[in-house]
Amino acid sequence: MKLALPANGPFGALSRRRALCLLAAGTAGAFADALWLEPGLLWVNRHDVACRNLPPGLEGLRVGVLADFHFRPGQDEALVEKAVARVNAEDLDLLALAGDYVTHSGEVLAPLLKILERVKTRHGVFAVMGNHDGWHPGRDFVRRSFEKAGIPFLINQNSQLRIKGDTLAVAGTDFVWLGKPDPAATLKGIAPATPVLALVHEPDYFDVMSSQREIQLQVSGHTHGGQCRVPLVGYAPVKVDYGRKYIKGSYTRGGSNLFVTSGVGTVGLRVRFACPPELAVLTLRGVPAA
Ligand SMILES: [Fe+2]
Repeated sequence: MKLALPANGPFGALSRRRALCLLAAGTAGAFADALWLEPGLLWVNRHDVACRNLPPGLEGLRVGVLADFHFRPGQDEALVEKAVARVNAEDLDLLALAGDYVTHSGEVLAPLLKILERVKTRHGVFAVMGNHDGWHPGRDFVRRSFEKAGIPFLINQNSQLRIKGDTLAVAGTDFVWLGKPDPAATLKGIAPATPVLALVHEPDYFDVMSSQREIQLQVSGHTHGGQCRVPLVGYAPVKVDYGRKYIKGSYTRGGSNLFVTSGVGTVGLRVRFACPPELAVLTLRGVPAA
């Protein structure tokens, strides 16, 4: 015998009404989160990165990553100030700035850099171009602005740091999307045994970088982690050129590692869902070579 609840009785009507109310409340809550709450949050996400051929002086090195500010004066100051305060509280060895400081206008760089100048790390801050920085204000303007603020800016070049008696190469490319990335120039002069921290705005370029040599860690942004994601499924509906394969979090290819940060700011509508602004803190951990 089949038991069925009455479709139009008081119980059925109440269930439907309650379901509709719950759906409406859930939708309103999701919109409120996406529009007003989440874009102003900042999550600190800490991960270990297993690196082959890591010398003892670099064991436990802590690298912060911020990217994709797309800074909007008048709206984003509190968020960036929060990011700088968290970086300083984390007592980092290095901070990597992985591009897209602006969306269109270069005028926003000066107020952004005024906040970023307050960052303190043990071994420095390094920055690279993003595609928006290259398309609009352009390389020369962006590089000059950073250097004026005392932040080294890498365009197809590297800087070799001595840390506790060992060497780390910090290597940064030009932006990839309509830019002129040159992996050979970027990695030029780095000894095979020297570990590489690569800064490349667009994550899909990891395949090119890791085909040159082992990259102990590449950090990238560009995708904003999808900016809006479907909870539990993790699906980011909007994909961007050069950010279609590697979208968010950690990836490996052979002995090379990639981390893609969800970034800080937003493009278009100031909206984020299930993908809050992020300060990534990555700790290098040596593992035996296979
Ligand atoms: Fe980008």
